[in-house]
Amino acid sequence: MDDDAGAAVTGERASFGFREVAATDKQRLVDHVFDRVADRYDLMNDLMSGGLHRLWKDALVAWLAPPRRAHLGYRVVDVAGGTGDIALRIAGRCAGAAVTVVDINPEMLAVGRARADRRHVDQVDFVDANAEDLPFAAGRFDAVTVAFGLRNVPRLERALAEALRVLRPGGRFLCLEFSTVDVAVLDRLYDLYSFSVIPRLGGLVVGDEEPYRYLVESIRRFPNQARFAALIERTGFARVAWRNLSGGIAAIHSGWKL
Ligand SMILES: C[S@@+](CC[C@H](N)C(=O)[O-])C[C@H]1O[C@@H](n2cnc3c(N)ncnc32)[C@H](O)[C@@H]1O
Repeated sequence: MDDDAGAAVTGERASFGFREVAATDKQRLVDHVFDRVADRYDLMNDLMSGGLHRLWKDALVAWLAPPRRAHLGYRVVDVAGGTGDIALRIAGRCAGAAVTVVDINPEMLAVGRARADRRHVDQVDFVDANAEDLPFAAGRFDAVTVAFGLRNVPRLERALAEALRVLRPGGRFLCLEFSTVDVAVLDRLYDLYSFSVIPRLGGLVVGDEEPYRYLVESIRRFPNQARFAALIERTGFARVAWRNLSGGIAAIHSGWKL
């Protein structure tokens, strides 16, 4: 029995925005979202966040602190890496790093590949695969990164277990994700902006509001900072910690495989 059939039989459920769906259906719905937005994905990120997502991604790479000098053998996998923002940043900081972008969506990978080619970056390769079932041997990577990816994966626990499996002992896991705002007033402004402005912006720029309704709803469904940290710990990561960004609009979680 393949995995999808297994999930259907066990009746695993997942949230797709505010809707509850079968885990297998969630992946199809998510794929459809990213098929629709791939071409304008990078532009929309800049417009929606006023460029903030760049600073958050810089913060993830700064916390990872990949070795600056050419250091052959530093291997990173960026899971749900889409158009390659994290991978290209790591490659820019670490001449010897070999970075693998894994994503389930060929359209997103194609945009990423084209960006890497335009910049003549040959340290980054792009692999079409599922975060829940990574096609790599155990212990292969020094670091696993994910940015704004895990929210979209139907079986979060499986993706975390896979991240742990492919890390070498002593390896680092870092996850940047939208989180829960913990600043009074900012939370209400953020809600207003999310539900009223973002879908309309999507309508104007991409010609479709639906993917951006999914975005804001899926953020509300994702575990808050403490719950997500507990989940990472339960997976088996050690020394789990997090840092809030912009009042908790996003957060970076860190864990180690010891
Ligand atoms: C919001 S984008 C993030 C892209 C990139 N990491 C960034 O920060 O710009 C989410 C990505 O997760 C990918 N994704 C969704 N489900 C996935 C899965 N099960 N396995 C791997 N990638 C997945 C989507 O195709 C999409 O490219």
